[in-house]
Amino acid sequence: MKDFKPKAWILPQPVLIIGTYDADGTPNAMNAAWGGQWDMTEIVISLGSHATTDNINRTGEFTVSFATAQTTTAADYVGIVSGRKQPDKVAKAGLHAVKSAHVDAPVFTDFPMTLECRVKEKIGESETGCYLIGEIVNIVCDEAYLAEDGKPDVEKMRLITFDPVHNGYISLGARVGNAFHDGLALK
Ligand SMILES: Cc1cc2nc3c(=O)[nH]c(=O)nc-3n(C[C@H](O)[C@H](O)[C@H](O)COP(=O)(O)O)c2cc1C
Repeated sequence: MKDFKPKAWILPQPVLIIGTYDADGTPNAMNAAWGGQWDMTEIVISLGSHATTDNINRTGEFTVSFATAQTTTAADYVGIVSGRKQPDKVAKAGLHAVKSAHVDAPVFTDFPMTLECRVKEKIGESETGCYLIGEIVNIVCDEAYLAEDGKPDVEKMRLITFDPVHNGYISLGARVGNAFHDGLALK
């Protein structure tokens, strides 16, 4: 076993795309890896100071979708270019925005599934950002990505995960087991 100094190496990490509206109504998107589930219907994102942060502070609402193998380049672009400097960044990324039916934020139809969220709390807020707690108001899923039981089919989505060790994006593979079930064989 080899030792390493402490790093942000929780694995696997998501590639979240946060959607917001700029002050003039232009859609914006940013990439966030440091996020996860906070409570049953709440998420948490470690949010720095970005155009997205300004937008969320103004509207109190945002969307979160999940990047896919097909959208890797666009997802990375919105993580390295700021709407503060590139106001038409979503158009440049080639993403397609429609207005969410539930919150004041865009839904990007390029991603299979989107959480529509409202700010519940900001922990440790300062000029450098906060831990953003968002209440999930609704979830929309493209019908092309539904399983036979009518629920989202995660395997069909070809989601990607962020590799913070080598700064890569890795496509998730096939299902290898059944949760809350396979372990029963050892009980
Ligand atoms: C792989 C990757 C992961 C990122 N994760 C986060 C994150 O978790 N939190 C954060 O505040 N910024 C994160 N960023 C940086 C923002 O996406 C980036 O600063 C972006 O340009 C902000 O856009 P905006 O100013 O238009 O909102 C990440 C960027 C990349 C490429």
